[in-house]
Amino acid sequence: MKNLYFGVMSGTSLDGIDAILIEFKGKTINILDFAQKKYNPTYKKAFLNISSPKINDLEQSYQLGLEHAQITSQIIKKLLKKNKISKEEVVAIGYHGQTIRHRPEKSYSIQIGSGHLLAEHLNISVVSDFRNRDIVAGGQGAPLVPAFHQTFFSSKKHNRIILNIGGISNISYIRGDGKLIGFDCGPGNILMDSWCQKNFNKPFDNFGAIAKQGEIIDSALTTMLKTSFFKKHPPKSTGRELFNLTWAEKFFQRGLKIQDVQRTLLELTSQSIVNSIQKFCSDFDEIYVCGGGSKNKFLIQNLQEKLQRPISFTRQLGIPEQQVEAAAFAWLAKTAIEKKKNNSPTISGSKGERVLGVIHHR
Ligand SMILES: Nc1ncnc2c1ncn2[C@@H]1O[C@H](COP(=O)(O)OP(=O)(O)OP(=O)(O)O)[C@@H](O)[C@H]1O
Ligand SMILES: [Mg+2]
Repeated sequence: MKNLYFGVMSGTSLDGIDAILIEFKGKTINILDFAQKKYNPTYKKAFLNISSPKINDLEQSYQLGLEHAQITSQIIKKLLKKNKISKEEVVAIGYHGQTIRHRPEKSYSIQIGSGHLLAEHLNISVVSDFRNRDIVAGGQGAPLVPAFHQTFFSSKKHNRIILNIGGISNISYIRGDGKLIGFDCGPGNILMDSWCQKNFNKPFDNFGAIAKQGEIIDSALTTMLKTSFFKKHPPKSTGRELFNLTWAEKFFQRGLKIQDVQRTLLELTSQSIVNSIQKFCSDFDEIYVCGGGSKNKFLIQNLQEKLQRPISFTRQLGIPEQQVEAAAFAWLAKTAIEKKKNNSPTISGSKGERVLGVIHHR
């Protein structure tokens, strides 16, 4: 029998739902299929609204979670049909849900999306709510992907950085000697996307073309980089609660050229990543990028110039850039089903190893 799992991820960019179908073969991964479903504008707006710390509408959040599960269920049904796979062959679905609050300092993180409904609709076991057990054990509940990166991307010869540029950017530093470091760096695409949506009416700055036309506003950049999150040592994680458009706009006076602001926000992402690398992983040999930000050519070029090192992409390690996060949640589901410890206390700061994920049995 094949060891088949689905991984379903909806990241902080609020771009939509990524689903991957994977066969695990020992220490290797065989990707059978991958699908992306973008949120429609109404849906995206509703998620953005409910993600605001000021909006505490319980009914709307639960309703949105049910809808998220419904859409996910349709994506999975399509993938099953297309790949001629029956439900019985799938061991489980790792279902992250959509984060609407990340408050480890208050002992919780909320991902909406109903594992109950998904299990009920599909008659497949679903693993969800991966973050909260780590958090109540004193951890950040994030990033959860470094353990997956280490399992599938490590090398005995090289110190490797895996840089995920999603809504938030996070680093896994996998050393040849087996040591693992992981943390959130700060904003990935989140601020660039929000500015672009508001001022250019586009979901994101394609290839960084708009930023490329602008000039860096040095005073704003310098002040933004003084934010205390950037000075913290790991364990650390962050989200929309800190890095949102209202926060960013405070640093820019009215009437500035909108391309210049776009350029400055790109520089904030890039400079904060580079600062983190220089501080915590300066002796790296190789860097591999994943996440949607890997498509931002101008950003990648900018990072490359700052690091004075070639930047590689995770497809060179066997998993395409856009599929890494979803694959990680398939693996987290597998480890949960097998009752294996799947958090990394040294990264999250939790007081011990735990099995993360709540199982909704088929
Ligand atoms: N062609 C492109 N040019 C520039 N940016 C792009 C392009 N394609 C995608 N992106 C960026 O990638 C983002 C989506 O990336 P991704 O799905 O990795 O983020 P995410 O869902 O927030 O994930 P995470 O869980 O890591 O936060 C988009 O919102 C956009 O900013
Ligand atoms: Mg995404």
